[in-house]
This record gives sequence, structure tokens and C-alpha cells, in this order.
Amino acid sequence: MEHVRVNLGSKSYSIHIGHGILESAATHIAELGHTKVALISHSEIAGLHGKKLVSGLRAAGVSVLQINLADGELAKNFSEVERALSEMARECFDRSSLVVALGGGAVGDAAGFIASLYMRGIPYVQIPTTLLAMVDSSVGGKTAVNLKEGKNLVGAFHQPILVLADPDVLGTLPLRHLQASVAEIIKTGVIRDPSLLTMMARGVPEDWSHAIKRCCEIKASIVEADEFETTGLRMLLNFGHTIGHAVEACAGYSELMHGEAISIGMVGSIFLSVRHAGLSPAEAKQITDAMALHSLPLCWNKLDTDSVMEVLMRDKKFASGKIRFVLAGNIGDAYVSEKVTLDDIREAVEVCKG
Ligand SMILES: NC(=O)c1ccc[n+]([C@@H]2O[C@H](COP(=O)([O-])OP(=O)(O)OC[C@H]3O[C@@H](n4cnc5c(N)ncnc54)[C@H](O)[C@@H]3O)[C@@H](O)[C@H]2O)c1
Repeated sequence: MEHVRVNLGSKSYSIHIGHGILESAATHIAELGHTKVALISHSEIAGLHGKKLVSGLRAAGVSVLQINLADGELAKNFSEVERALSEMARECFDRSSLVVALGGGAVGDAAGFIASLYMRGIPYVQIPTTLLAMVDSSVGGKTAVNLKEGKNLVGAFHQPILVLADPDVLGTLPLRHLQASVAEIIKTGVIRDPSLLTMMARGVPEDWSHAIKRCCEIKASIVEADEFETTGLRMLLNFGHTIGHAVEACAGYSELMHGEAISIGMVGSIFLSVRHAGLSPAEAKQITDAMALHSLPLCWNKLDTDSVMEVLMRDKKFASGKIRFVLAGNIGDAYVSEKVTLDDIREAVEVCKG
């Protein structure tokens, strides 16, 4: 079993990573001492991985309310959030109750948001079930729902109190989802750790635990230094996301998976990094080769540049009118640049069309 600690004073928490940890999740959660738990998931995930957790919690005397959200991005929706909050209210949940998120990044983001809202904030535990959620979204406390105007436009910073990541649950994850998740691992390598990129360039690891641990360590160190994304450091985690989120929105949150859209967005960021940050073409190729090895898309020919630019302008990162774009000068060394212009980004989007 691997452990990573996120040090945030009174909001500090542990991430436990280990094969079979889901088997003992009920014990870990019961030990937290909450008598009422809302297990927020999706019906299929709950069916595959939630049964033992529910029976274990009930056997430990914890009352469990099971709430299943719509699948994927459809979970990150106000009507789903409201439905869950109402169910909790009807069951007389109070400040001493706990939310447990069992699912991928979408369930985790929505459940975290629900926990942040109920009675102005109750604690929650993340049990990520996709590789993407294990290496990225379950850590750091960013919770969100989408608006039709853009992704993650509404949310709250609300840190979990515990994260339990069991790589065994990845056994039921469809291959395309597993591959899409690798985009966030490659992103973490590009911004902070060349060895992660080297690991991904070797192919699919026999055991994901090391990649999960390394990504959690890196994300923890960034979140510890810039929890609320005020200094710019946390923005580094958005490498590839500015264009990627716009691409995802233009694809209607359905045709491309989140990681695939981020992969396409990273191609744009790599193009701009070569142009403005001195990233060598050899390193750029090293990154895109690793992405291709994991079957990540490097372009999408259905992209409409004007639509992408329109969505992109509503991105939170453009809200102040100043364009702050994450570039990498070398693999493992990313920074926030203010030199990138809208015309540059338009060109990068053209590159993403292939
Ligand atoms: N909060 C953050 O810091 C952060 C960071 C990165 C991404 N995100 C968000 O994460 C979301 C994407 O998350 P995702 O890639 O995990 O996708 P997802 O949550 O949409 O899950 C993908 C699909 O896999 C299914 N699934 C999940 N676990 C499974 C399992 N073990 N077996 C079988 N099927 C399973 C889900 O039901 C869904 O259909 C996006 O909304 C993105 O914005 C958030």
C-alpha cells in the first residue's frame, strides 16, 4: 500500500493507493465516525464496485443512502445536484453526515460539489474508479458542474477528507477510458516529471500504482503551494486544458472523452511551447509519440476553429481579459506565459485539426 499526504493545515488528508483497498474501504470510512453516509455514484459503477462497500458500512452500523447520478458529464449538472441534495434532506442528513464519491472524475466532481453545498459544506471521501480520477481529479478539492456556456464554470474548492485508490477497479474500465486517462499522466510528466513521461513512453505499465502515486505526489505539492490557484502554480495543471476544454465542449461532451480532448489540447500547447518557450522539436515528438503509443488522439478533423475560439473566450483563465497560457520549455518544466496571443491560439487550434 502506498500513501501520499496532502498537507493543507486543518484540511490535510491522506491518499491511500493499493490493490484490494476497496475491500477494506468500509472499515476506513466507518473509522471516520459518521453515522450517515450518502454514497454518490453511477448505477453501473455502484453495481460493479459498490456492493461490498455498502454492506460493509451497514454491518458497521452506518446508515447508507445510495444516490446514483447520470453517467459521465451528465452527472455534472445542476438538476442532478439538486436531486441529490433533496434526497439527502429528505433522509435528514445533517452536518455530521458524510458523502462518499464512488466513480470517475465526473461523479467525483459532482459529489464533491454536492458535499460543498449541503448545509454549507459537509465532509466527503473520494473513491476514484477511473485512472484519470486516481491520478488527478480525486485530489486537490476542485469540484464542479458544467453550464451549457462552458465546462466547470460553477464549482467550489472543497477538499476531501480521504482518498482511497484501488487499481484493481480499473479491471472493469473500458480500454478507451483507460487510454484517455493516460493524457493526464503525460500532462503531469510534461509539467513536472520527465521520468513519468519516460514511464509512459515504455508502454502500458504492468501495475499503475507507481504512476498513480507519482501523479498524486506532484499534484499534492502543487495544491499545497497554491490551493486556490492564486499564484499561478496550480494553473500548470491546466497544460493542454485551455484548448482541450473548448474542444470537449464543441464535441458536445459526448463524442470525445475528457482525456481525449485534453490530448488534442496538449498538441496545441506543444505547438505553442515550441514556438514561444523553446521546447525542442525532439522533446515535442517524445511527448506526442508517448501519446500516440497509448492511442490518444493527436487531432480531430471535425473541429470548427471559430466555435472553439468562442468557447475558449469564456474560459475562466480568460476572464480577466489577460491571456495566461501554460507552456513547457522542457519536459518537466512548465510555466505560465502571458506572451501567447489569440492569433497564436487560433493557429494552434488549426494544428489540432490535423
Ligand atoms: N477536479 C479536478 O481536479 C479534475 C481534474 C481532471 C478532470 N476532472 C474532470 O473529470 C471528468 C472526467 O473524468 P473521467 O475521465 O474519470 O470520466 P468519467 O467520470 O466520465 O467516467 C468515464 C466512464 O467510465 C465509467 N466508469 C467509471 N469507472 C468505471 C469502472 N471502474 N469500470 C467501468 N466503468 C467505469 C463511467 O460510468 C463513465 O461512463 C471531467 O468532467 C473532468 O472535468 C476534474
